[in-house]
Amino acid sequence: MIYTPFPMRVVSKRVEAPGVNTLKLEFVNQEDHEFFKANYHTGMFGLYGIYGEGESTFCVASPETRKDYIECTFRQSGRVTTTLANTDEGDIVTFRGPYGNRFPIEQFEGKNLLFIAGGIALPPTRSVIWSCLDQREKYKDVTIVYGARTVADLVYKHELEEWKQRDDVNLVLTVDPGGETPDWHDHVGFVPTVLEQAAPSPENTIAVLCGPPIMIKFTLAALEKLGFTAENVYTTLENRMKCGVGKCGRCNVGSVYICKEGPVFTAAEVQAMPQADL
Ligand SMILES: Cc1cc2nc3c(=O)[nH]c(=O)nc-3n(C[C@H](O)[C@H](O)[C@H](O)COP(=O)(O)OP(=O)(O)OC[C@H]3O[C@@H](n4cnc5c(N)ncnc54)[C@H](O)[C@@H]3O)c2cc1C
Ligand code: FES
Repeated sequence: MIYTPFPMRVVSKRVEAPGVNTLKLEFVNQEDHEFFKANYHTGMFGLYGIYGEGESTFCVASPETRKDYIECTFRQSGRVTTTLANTDEGDIVTFRGPYGNRFPIEQFEGKNLLFIAGGIALPPTRSVIWSCLDQREKYKDVTIVYGARTVADLVYKHELEEWKQRDDVNLVLTVDPGGETPDWHDHVGFVPTVLEQAAPSPENTIAVLCGPPIMIKFTLAALEKLGFTAENVYTTLENRMKCGVGKCGRCNVGSVYICKEGPVFTAAEVQAMPQADL
């Protein structure tokens, strides 16, 4: 079952930012849906494909609290993503998964949560965010720091607006210098700088950090300065993958197979990997 692609029907397509789309997919077969419901947890990923075109790896961007469908958000970059981006409502695509490990959100209960995301890496973070917000009473303060190069590059704009309106979520938005528009009233600056200015307390706080490697590197340094320990910072790795199930050897770092043992790791675990540059 784990190797078999599920046929999935495109229910809707949303343009998030230039070249970035979200597909909402529903299961064609009840049996596949039951398998997904029994096995999916936030942080896991899948291989999304089109028959005859190939597969691409994306996280499952929808939360584990909403398993009636799968959402994926991806940047159009090559053959598979272009074909996926050109699908229409009713078209059939494939999904292989859910693979990998998960964010241990039950261990986050009773703690403050700090989510930090950069650019197109909001989708994995968004999956954890909604998984926690859908059970809001289990967690203490929730802070979300999200940055993109420009205002146009911010994804899930409708959800950012929703989080901004909520009084139980502290949303800190930023765009890189020069990426602002005349009507931009949030921060201007790189994520690590804006994070340091916001200065969230490390006391009883778990941080979830997803973004491009350069952002992760500098944001980890900022978190350390704020007093966070590497054991309390979770991230997900985005190594190139092919099989997704520990067979092809495409994704491994030393003896660690990111597709099986990851993609979710604490910063301490990543720092212990060979060639870690964090
Ligand atoms: C866990 C994970 C899951 C992913 N899942 C998907 C997926 O589902 N679909 C998909 O298409 N891709 C996915 N990706 C792909 C990945 O996010 C992007 O390919 C890559 O991270 C670049 O994104 P970007 O170009 O939007 O970032 P950029 O827009 O280049 O940067 C985003 C932010 O990083 C900060 N930053 C940038 N440069 C610096 C610097 N020099 N110093 C300090 N801060 C800096 C800035 O604040 C900026 O706002 C995933 C990545 C990760 C890590
Ligand atoms: S993707 Fe094949 S071993 Fe990990």
